[in-house]
Amino acid sequence: MVTGAGSERGIGRAVAHRLARDGWSLLLLDVDGGGVRRRADEVARELADGASVLGLACDVTSPDAVAAALAAADEQLPPVAGLVNLAGIPSPTPLLEVTLAEWDRVMAVNATGSLLLVQEAGRRMVAAGHGRIVLTSSVTALDGGGTFSKSAYAAAKAAVLGLARGAARELGPHGVTVNALVPGPVDTDIMGGALDDERKAQMAAGIPAGRVGQPADLAEVAAFLLSDGAGFVNGTTFSVDGGMHMH
Ligand SMILES: NC(=O)c1ccc[n+]([C@@H]2O[C@H](COP(=O)([O-])OP(=O)(O)OC[C@H]3O[C@@H](n4cnc5c(N)ncnc54)[C@H](O)[C@@H]3O)[C@@H](O)[C@H]2O)c1
Repeated sequence: MVTGAGSERGIGRAVAHRLARDGWSLLLLDVDGGGVRRRADEVARELADGASVLGLACDVTSPDAVAAALAAADEQLPPVAGLVNLAGIPSPTPLLEVTLAEWDRVMAVNATGSLLLVQEAGRRMVAAGHGRIVLTSSVTALDGGGTFSKSAYAAAKAAVLGLARGAARELGPHGVTVNALVPGPVDTDIMGGALDDERKAQMAAGIPAGRVGQPADLAEVAAFLLSDGAGFVNGTTFSVDGGMHMH
């Protein structure tokens, strides 16, 4: 199960393609963003030859929508064994100007959405005695932001880290691992458009690997964290940032 899977140049779509190569059946979720090409069903059609794939519109902030998506998967797909939650939105507004409405939405999509997905998928995984959950934080949670997004996003992505650790502790005894990806800057459209070469070069200057990340960099790590061999990797904050934060 991959959320945020409908973005044309996003990490979720790359993860969906990577997992399809590993033979996973897939439930792909994304908001049906008016006018924006973020359609999970289109990505599902790209993959339909390789795996059994269901793409649905789902706002991860809605408990009813998340429950309905999982119920549809119960009907049409094998039991959910892995979740990669990539649905997320930024908050570029400076702290002293951020409105409560923006704060609430950023917390709802990034943090509350993670909770709802962990609960819906986690219940099924606990019942099965096996599961793999990957949540998505950000280097912004560690350094307070400034590049892509600011304080509200940092707070929401820090909440994701706490949730991942708590879930790892509570679900671990049931055979379910929970880890958090901590991406550095990745070349997607999350800020509303592609990064230009000048911006990429500026960002790369602060990254020991000498470049910004690509969605495929995250997809490889997500595929590993979902694999059978990753069963003893639990509660980690898995940096994929070219060495931006060494800890
Ligand atoms: N790109 C980066 O530099 C970067 C760095 C750190 C963390 N991240 C995180 O990685 C994840 C993927 O981001 P991306 O870079 O691929 O950006 P993206 O904008 O391409 O993808 C995010 C996806 O989430 C979806 N989404 C937003 N609100 C949603 C909702 N309410 N319900 C369901 N889906 C929703 C969007 O429609 C979009 O398809 C996000 O959680 C983001 O915060 C990205």
